[in-house]
Amino acid sequence: MEGRRRGATWNPVPAGGQRHGDAQGFHNERSLADAAGATASGTLAVTMSGFWPDRKVLVTGGTGFLGSAVRRGLASRSAGRVVALSSADYDLRDREATAQMFDTHAPDLVIHLAARVGGIGANQARPADLYLDNLLMGTYVLEEARLHRTPKTVMIGTICSYPKFTPVPFTEDSLWTGYPEETNAPYGIAKLAQLVQLQANRDQHGQNAIYLMPTNLYGPGDKFHPDVSHVIPALIKKCVEAHEQQAGHIVVWGTGKASREFLYVDDAAEGILLAAEHYNAGEPVNLGSNEEMPIGELVTTIAELVGFEGEIEWDRTKPDGQPRRRVDPGRAEKEFGFKAEVDFREGLARTIDWYRANRAEAEARTE
Ligand SMILES: NC(=O)c1ccc[n+]([C@@H]2O[C@H](COP(=O)([O-])OP(=O)(O)OC[C@H]3O[C@@H](n4cnc5c(N)ncnc54)[C@H](OP(=O)(O)O)[C@@H]3O)[C@@H](O)[C@H]2O)c1
Repeated sequence: MEGRRRGATWNPVPAGGQRHGDAQGFHNERSLADAAGATASGTLAVTMSGFWPDRKVLVTGGTGFLGSAVRRGLASRSAGRVVALSSADYDLRDREATAQMFDTHAPDLVIHLAARVGGIGANQARPADLYLDNLLMGTYVLEEARLHRTPKTVMIGTICSYPKFTPVPFTEDSLWTGYPEETNAPYGIAKLAQLVQLQANRDQHGQNAIYLMPTNLYGPGDKFHPDVSHVIPALIKKCVEAHEQQAGHIVVWGTGKASREFLYVDDAAEGILLAAEHYNAGEPVNLGSNEEMPIGELVTTIAELVGFEGEIEWDRTKPDGQPRRRVDPGRAEKEFGFKAEVDFREGLARTIDWYRANRAEAEARTE
């Protein structure tokens, strides 16, 4: 089965500047072409300096790992009016609080990053929390953005929504061909529901919301506490501690045979900001690096960068997760010119350096 909204409505501005299929509503908003910064000569003619100073940008989850990178990206674009929020400001699982956030800040652009996320361990320990928290946050943010006539909302999905046995590379049209890998299905389905909601809202109400799916992220500022860490911070922490303690071996979950793609967090932020500037369609878009690495090779690379020379033992009683993950990055490049730039070894080295210099901060977050 294919994605159901391909080419249906609310197309991005085609060459020549004429839009097709605009849905109803949002009569008072800036026109889509203007919101996208598009010109009569085509879709990618945005001048960054023109786009960002004019807009009030609200970043939910703006204090998180990806949120911090998005804030760096906004600062480098000289975005003048940025509000970055955490759960302490508004609990977005609460409809009233979400409405209040929109009433108070009246954003022109919302980048919705707030979520409850974690690696396989967190997904196994708290599947119900990850399902409901993410479903509620996404549902309320999209709906309040609609009711407040917010000109544009950027929703962040996840490649955990892809079916367990999706052909590699994952193309966006494979999203609905099967059920996700069991360990992350509640999280993946809750996120995917937001794609359905935004496409339905686009069709029925003309709401301009877009949906991006970053692959596994890594980089400075990530969470290293074992309750919530993803594979790269978990492995870095393990190798750094083993190196310090001069341990003879480390134990790693799974078989090492599963493979993953990783995107440096500032590259992901760049993709999000390019999409905010240029992309205005309802079709989901992958953000990836187009490089895939077996976990076994990842462990040896991290061990080498850290200086750990002991043995690596595999705990095969623990799950591997999805067998392979790599997304097709073609749509992001075609639609808004995104291409990942940071070399993987270089990105890993920066992450290890950051972890060594910021241990307490890196391990503090347990949510
Ligand atoms: N990390 C990855 O590998 C990855 C990959 C693909 C997609 N994503 C997506 O990228 C987005 C950001 O992820 P991240 O890794 O940056 O996560 P993160 O570091 O855990 O940050 C999550 C942010 O959401 C906020 N938040 C959590 N619960 C909230 C609530 N109930 N109300 C309001 N705010 C709440 C947190 O605020 P507090 O800290 O104050 O609670 C924090 O600012 C998420 O949508 C995630 O699904 C992440």
